[in-house]
Amino acid sequence: MKIKFQNLTGMHDILPEDQVYFQKVQKSVENIANYYSFQKIETPILEQAEVFSKAVGTSTDIVGKEMYTFRTKGGDLVSLRPEGTASIMRSYIEHGMHNLPQPVKFWYIGPFFRYERPQAGRFRQFHQFGFEALGEKNPSIDGQIIQMSYDVLKELGFKNLTIEVNSIGDSECRPYFKKILAGYFKSRRSSLCSDCQRRLKENPLRILDCKEEKCQTVKASAPQIIDHLCKDCHAHFKQVLEFLDELELPYTLNPYLVRGLDYYTKTVFEIVEKGLPAQAGEDGATVGTLIGGGRYDNLAKLLGGRDTPSCGSAGGIERMIALMKARDTKLTKKPDGAKIFLAQLGQMAKRKSFKLFEEFREAKIPVAESFSKDSLKSQLRAADKLGIKYVLIFGQKEALENFVTLKDMETGAQKEIKLDKVVKEMQAKIKK
Ligand code: HAM
Repeated sequence: MKIKFQNLTGMHDILPEDQVYFQKVQKSVENIANYYSFQKIETPILEQAEVFSKAVGTSTDIVGKEMYTFRTKGGDLVSLRPEGTASIMRSYIEHGMHNLPQPVKFWYIGPFFRYERPQAGRFRQFHQFGFEALGEKNPSIDGQIIQMSYDVLKELGFKNLTIEVNSIGDSECRPYFKKILAGYFKSRRSSLCSDCQRRLKENPLRILDCKEEKCQTVKASAPQIIDHLCKDCHAHFKQVLEFLDELELPYTLNPYLVRGLDYYTKTVFEIVEKGLPAQAGEDGATVGTLIGGGRYDNLAKLLGGRDTPSCGSAGGIERMIALMKARDTKLTKKPDGAKIFLAQLGQMAKRKSFKLFEEFREAKIPVAESFSKDSLKSQLRAADKLGIKYVLIFGQKEALENFVTLKDMETGAQKEIKLDKVVKEMQAKIKK
């Protein structure tokens, strides 16, 4: 039978077998955020379109080609959020958070939307987590954000990580560099792709971000911004690198790293996994950058706020999960760390075991079960698969005489426990 409805292109269901991966990523992000005193924030999925066009920039692919933008019935022009930083800065300004002790540090996790051409590691609805520290210009915060981003991947078992870093200057030195870059690309205009010919007019820095092969060749000998930084940006970058050295983080300088969003100033970085097993996508394509970020000292002003130097990063959860799966990090979920399995045999036992299961829940003792299975053998197999030590067997005889049989899966020993004592006795057993 032909399926009538399917997911929209580039959108996907997160099925139970993937939830364990999502939860593992979220836990790791949350632990690291807590440790560094970052607080959780949630912003709406819809914002005024202008929040993103002003922040991310109209010359970027994200705003120019990839935003889901529409008019509401009330006539407002709104967009599904393509990223989190602009919304968080909007929230910071709206709630007068400059009055709080600075920096104000946030973390977040949730769905984001970009109308991209779907391919390995690229979806139209995807999930990001992010860290943002607002109201701090010291380069130590750049170091901290990079460290935290790296820590998340490390904790999830990623190896062969490389942090690519660059500085893209600020409003003092970048306009000057853009002119130099425009001059270089103008004389090679015919070798650029049609998008880059347009970018040359709008923002020549965006050419450095182009993935087209013909542009790569032209890019390879383009002038480097690092040679044109003003004194302040140069000193800042030097200090960031000193932090990274001190933290012994594996970084490389990538003079052509500009990132695909206009709000960045000074530090930009991306973390990628090099070498095997990076080929997690079909057709051998790599999933691309795992985490990207940088400093955005002018963003607050672009959104109508006061001067708020800030720095942050965001990671793509689907990309990380694709690599975790390719690495064969199999995660099976033991229902909330259950140490007890409740097996039942026969209709009456099944009914009574529902009640017993409820009693365990009230006592806050996690118990796994397989109520849908009828044979004891398959239930014991399920308990074994979950690595559970204690199985409570509730059969016909047990149900009639109000007791359960406890089987220790490690020793094979069995004993009978009265039904009204079972919760207390198991509580004592699992505490040991
Ligand atoms: P971004 O580089 O656009 O930066 O996105 C961050 C990460 O999200 C990427 O490195 C990638 O892992 C993931 N990602 C992006 N687009 C997709 C997609 N279509 N499908 C799957 N994953 C994707 C930002 O969004 C900035 N807000 C990061 C930041 C925070 N900068 C400062 N603070």
